Amino acid sequence: MDIQALLNKMTVKEKIYQLLMMNTLAYAGKKEENLTGPAAKLIFDKNYLFESGSALNSVGARRMIDIQKNYLENSKNKIPLIFTQDVIHGYRTLYPVNLAIASSFDTKLAHDCAQMAAKEASIDGVQVTFAPMVDLVRDPRWGRVMESSGEDPYLNCKMAKATVEGYQGDMGKYNIAACVKHFAAYGAAEGGRDYNCVDMGEPTLRNYYLPAYKAAIDAGVMTLMTSFNSLNGVPSAGNKWLVKDILRDEWGFDGVVISDYASFREMIVHGYAEDGKDAAYKAMEATGDIEMSSTNYPLYLEELISEGKISMEQLDKAVLRVLKLKDDLGLFDNPYRSTDVEEAEKIILCKEHRDLARYAAEESAVLLKNNGILPLKEDVSSVAVIGPLANTGEIFGNWHCGAKAEETITVLDGIKSIIGDRAKYAKGCDIEITSTDESQIAKAVKLAKKCEKVVLCLGEHQFDSGESQCKAILELPEVQYKLLNEVLKVNKNVVVLLFTGRPLAIERLDAIAPAILNMWMPGTEGGNAAANLLFARSVPSGKITMSFPRVSGQCPIYYNSYNTGRPKLQKDLVREKYTSSYLDVLNSPLYPFGYGMSYSTFEYSDKAIDKTTMTRGEKIIASVKVKNTGNYKCKEIVQLYIRDLVGSIVRPVKELKGFEKIELDIGEEKTVTFEIDEESLAFYGADLTKKAESGKFQVFIGASSDCEPFAEFELK
Ligand code: GLC
Repeated sequence: MDIQALLNKMTVKEKIYQLLMMNTLAYAGKKEENLTGPAAKLIFDKNYLFESGSALNSVGARRMIDIQKNYLENSKNKIPLIFTQDVIHGYRTLYPVNLAIASSFDTKLAHDCAQMAAKEASIDGVQVTFAPMVDLVRDPRWGRVMESSGEDPYLNCKMAKATVEGYQGDMGKYNIAACVKHFAAYGAAEGGRDYNCVDMGEPTLRNYYLPAYKAAIDAGVMTLMTSFNSLNGVPSAGNKWLVKDILRDEWGFDGVVISDYASFREMIVHGYAEDGKDAAYKAMEATGDIEMSSTNYPLYLEELISEGKISMEQLDKAVLRVLKLKDDLGLFDNPYRSTDVEEAEKIILCKEHRDLARYAAEESAVLLKNNGILPLKEDVSSVAVIGPLANTGEIFGNWHCGAKAEETITVLDGIKSIIGDRAKYAKGCDIEITSTDESQIAKAVKLAKKCEKVVLCLGEHQFDSGESQCKAILELPEVQYKLLNEVLKVNKNVVVLLFTGRPLAIERLDAIAPAILNMWMPGTEGGNAAANLLFARSVPSGKITMSFPRVSGQCPIYYNSYNTGRPKLQKDLVREKYTSSYLDVLNSPLYPFGYGMSYSTFEYSDKAIDKTTMTRGEKIIASVKVKNTGNYKCKEIVQLYIRDLVGSIVRPVKELKGFEKIELDIGEEKTVTFEIDEESLAFYGADLTKKAESGKFQVFIGASSDCEPFAEFELK
């Protein structure tokens, strides 16, 4: 399509309405007569309803076809709508939440899961997903950590690249355009409270929070979403320095920039825009293209252009980016793209997709503790499956798209599929964080007493993490501890399955539970994955990518922190006066970044680097031997960390610079090697240029971030 020629035929208002995204159902009627839901509250010229550019939230293949057809019949320019959806961790077949997928440290898995989601979404009428969310996170009080890959920029970049490539592929029939979000630093919301302000120095922004957006852009992401938060006092939606200067001019991103929901209008609420006209001006100056679910562009851009405050060139650039996206999606050739009602019914939730979702849940689970009770044996005489999350399909996770509880395998079902009616169920207590009802505990205890083993499913409701689901209290509710303690009184053989979208403060649980297997929110096949792991049909190999605090008061907490001038020297001593520490809690997390157990054990030996001096342009090879010294064939995620001992700004005590997931047969030993090059050592220093600074570096290799250096080298 000659989009320039198309643009030249459009009036100013028609151009402006291409930048408007409203809820899909707004386009379902003939004119404004049935504007319902959020769109009904929007103020805009209804005569241009069928000139607006894109639709928010999928409605399924059949309705998408009807709505696109209705739109085109009523449209003057007949420029097809783009249909969008938050396909975050699956479309209808859900794989685990993204914080879980990251725990697999398996970029191919992340890729394949996104690819599967794109296939289901594309044939069901979706063309753009608002994913991947790549916000770096350090505070589990923030509900949206579930969508992230965690606290490390290196891993976040790898996961961002893999996920974009999974969604977009070669933009064929079964691919959808991705949208990297939320630009920028939304994960640093103060107090872990959603939508809250973000303040940080530019070195921190560039060294930790920006890299993953850039990785997505380098991977070819077609769109980007700006974030709700203000960054150093300026809301991202109107942040010209962030979006125009860095994203467009410095990074060269010329894809479509989409606002978050009504975030243009929210600039007024922030106190950054005087009114809608000022908001429209600031958004356009920041080169925001699509306005989602508010109408400042339609209401004020024409006036701003007539006043010469916004140029026609600025408007044309934005509209051309939207038209190019539609052209790249092939919508001018086929406004329905990959939508196929019959194929959707065949492909969605098919066995292949369920198998992948189950495998992903097995690879993402993290064994946090095991006194030896795990794995269970399949000849067990009986298992009491107890808890508020034992017999519910609501373990697929928030941002659930089209998932349904009745299509999700429960833990009870999963265990029954292995041991049949030797699995017995009692709820024990409710999941609501406000519940104090202990009336169901007695029945659960009675069951636990009769059974050989107990699987106790605890945690949080799946909708207690996700957007706006923030918590100041990360501890489990008292009633869940009451249930656990009463069960333990009659049966010591208890395995806790933890279901959560975030790290929880579970020091109490760790102290009393014989074993804890963190399933996160495992998706559609969660129950089968849990059962396979409990009975060692699959061996846990996941490792957390976000630190688990001991208590909520430690947050934010993350491994790649600074040493300070008064570091705590004795890790296991709570009080160390005149050091950076607490009176009442250790500094260390309950479980550190990169931590996760297996049913097997490993021996790390012969850690080495091939030279102790590195000149510019050279590489250092670090190596280690890892042996499976246990009784199970399994996987291990070997991690490389580096510490820059002195810099023009202080440097973290260690940073992940490499990882490799290896599979080891019983008794098998493998050598793992890592390359350390200048890029690995580069950072934005005091002068805000990115480079590796000469000096000494320590090298760590281990099974988690809690490892000691084994070598040192100098960069000349
Ligand atoms: C929400 C979220 C964003 C999502 C958008 C559309 O408020 O912040 O992540 O993509 O609105 O649903």
